[in-house]
Amino acid sequence: MEAARELIREDLESSWELLTLQSDGAPGELCERMRFLSARQGKRIRSTLVFLVSRLSDHTDTISARLSAAAIELLHVASLAHDDVIDDSDLRRGEASAPSRWGNQMAVLVGDYAFARSMRLAIDSKRSEIVETINHASCCLTAGEVAELDLSRSATPTWDAYREVIHLKTASLLETCCRCGAIAAGLSTLQTEASARFGHRFGMAFQMCDDLLDLGAIPNLDKPARTDLSNGLVNLPALLLRELTGKEMSDFAHISTAELLSTLEATGVLGKARSLLNDELDAAERELSLMPNLPVRIHLASLLEDLRDRSIEAMGG
Ligand code: FPP
Ligand code: MG
Repeated sequence: MEAARELIREDLESSWELLTLQSDGAPGELCERMRFLSARQGKRIRSTLVFLVSRLSDHTDTISARLSAAAIELLHVASLAHDDVIDDSDLRRGEASAPSRWGNQMAVLVGDYAFARSMRLAIDSKRSEIVETINHASCCLTAGEVAELDLSRSATPTWDAYREVIHLKTASLLETCCRCGAIAAGLSTLQTEASARFGHRFGMAFQMCDDLLDLGAIPNLDKPARTDLSNGLVNLPALLLRELTGKEMSDFAHISTAELLSTLEATGVLGKARSLLNDELDAAERELSLMPNLPVRIHLASLLEDLRDRSIEAMGG
């Protein structure tokens, strides 16, 4: 990941400037609040995907790649402000979340403003395919949150419903990153679709890994261990536990993380999670082989390996 980031360093810096300009133009107190929200970026995996895929040709439209990466990061920032309201979460990236800092009303409004500015960035690309795909992703994110809430209220959560949730709330945006990169690179339709499917598969594995991180095997800056579970969300280990043993995660609320992990190993939950995650990563690797055969593909492959390693850590090693 570090080598990949070095390759696209200028792109990352320039898109960061585009993003911060959206805060600078905001009136009054909104400016500082926008700065606070957008300063808390993690590994910028979404921008990294846009830029790596955009390098799969030698005639990249760099401006479009940078504007779409900035638009997608800002859309992500906006969605997290809203997500922290929905999840009633106090922490984000190890700091007070937007709602715990400003209250729910203000967090929703600052998120709305960030969302509107992200659309502005997409429009500035003057590429209708980019505007369309980012707009589509924002509809998917919202539909995903609605579906997640419905699933948490369902007495009989199903695999199909779970896959639909993680596709909509997470994989759709990572798919959009790769699609924007492919558009900026001017790839053929077949290569663009393979890139989008790569992003989709990567995104499905990414959310499954995020679900496993909730178990608390390694420190998570975004939330204390078992937050999803205490919020009644149906995540990957909870669904597998129910399917394999008929038990609920709440049955194990009193035991330590180490005990929980060994119970999940013994019941086959972690083995099945490993295999589902690997299926997605292997499918992503197959899509990668349909994308242009340029050296930058090595960096996309290394993102898959990093995620494989992280998910092993999330299951306690
Ligand atoms: C974090 O996932 C949340 C998302 C990936 C999507 C949130 C989307 C919305 C709130 C709706 C759309 C909003 C806009 C502005 C279009 P998570 O809850 O699994 O992860 P976490 O552990 O980081 O909370
Ligand atoms: Mg959430």
